[in-house]
Amino acid sequence: MAQRWIEDEPETTVTPAASPVLAVDGVTLQYKTPDHLVTATYRVGFDIHAGDRLVLLGPSGCGKSTLLKSIAGFHKPVAGSIRLKGKPVTGPGPDRMMVFQEFDQLFPWKTVLANVAFPMLENGVSRKEAEVRARDAIAKVNLTKFTDVYPHMLSGGMKQRVAIARAMAMRPDVLLMDEPYAALDALTRRKMQEELLQLWDDVRFTLVFVTHSIEEAVIVGSRIVVLSPHPGQVRAELNCHHLGVAEQDGAEFQMLTRRIAAMLFEDKSVGH
Ligand SMILES: Nc1ncnc2c1ncn2[C@@H]1O[C@H](COP(=O)(O)OP(=O)(O)O)[C@@H](O)[C@H]1O
Ligand SMILES: [Mg+2]
Repeated sequence: MAQRWIEDEPETTVTPAASPVLAVDGVTLQYKTPDHLVTATYRVGFDIHAGDRLVLLGPSGCGKSTLLKSIAGFHKPVAGSIRLKGKPVTGPGPDRMMVFQEFDQLFPWKTVLANVAFPMLENGVSRKEAEVRARDAIAKVNLTKFTDVYPHMLSGGMKQRVAIARAMAMRPDVLLMDEPYAALDALTRRKMQEELLQLWDDVRFTLVFVTHSIEEAVIVGSRIVVLSPHPGQVRAELNCHHLGVAEQDGAEFQMLTRRIAAMLFEDKSVGH
């Protein structure tokens, strides 16, 4: 992994005590189309520890979604490995729940409660326990008043919160989010980012969050893996766990966003 370097932490101190929840090692992902081969990522590697909010940041087309799909078990690497709690990922499972960008990821004919309970019922949780866990998750995303309504009565932001509640209620080892707020207006997006951080403060889940927005990466992430343009390779790994929502307008926040912007711009000008 020659391109990989850890900002602000000398090599000698990067020895995490606990073993990672998720280990992505040298992962190359490809698509075979009838006339050519598309390499989406090339030898990508990083570790995710319990409680990390790891952001995969990179320009459109650098393979972020493909990488997330591969962590979810929907896309098999042609090289490298993905391990969850030490076991190779060989397919999808309830231990990795995904939240997508689209607002139509809910069943329109089911209420909020039924939507959130659905994956639990499908995975053998009793009806009684599923309801308790669903109500608790709905409360955590501040939607208690909307427990019995149908998705068409909700705004885009509220639908995303239901999708997050549904994923969280499963108590996955890792929550995977693919540009979940990209289709929201700027104000709602900011509110959702803050809500997600509050939820994390409350529950301390492990998150892999994909975005192409530098600002969003620095707000949401405790660590950022910056990917170079197509095919995605790890350009840098940055720690920003000390930057909370309160520091969003601070000098350090600005400096970090500028540094990442310079990195991504540099990549573009080299013409990968
Ligand atoms: N189903 C597919 N078939 C062929 N190529 C694909 C497919 N999906 C994505 N790609 C290509 O793989 C690369 C990475 O795509 P993607 O993972 O969607 O990037 P990102 O999420 O970073 O925008 C792009 O070049 C894209 O065109
Ligand atoms: Mg994508």
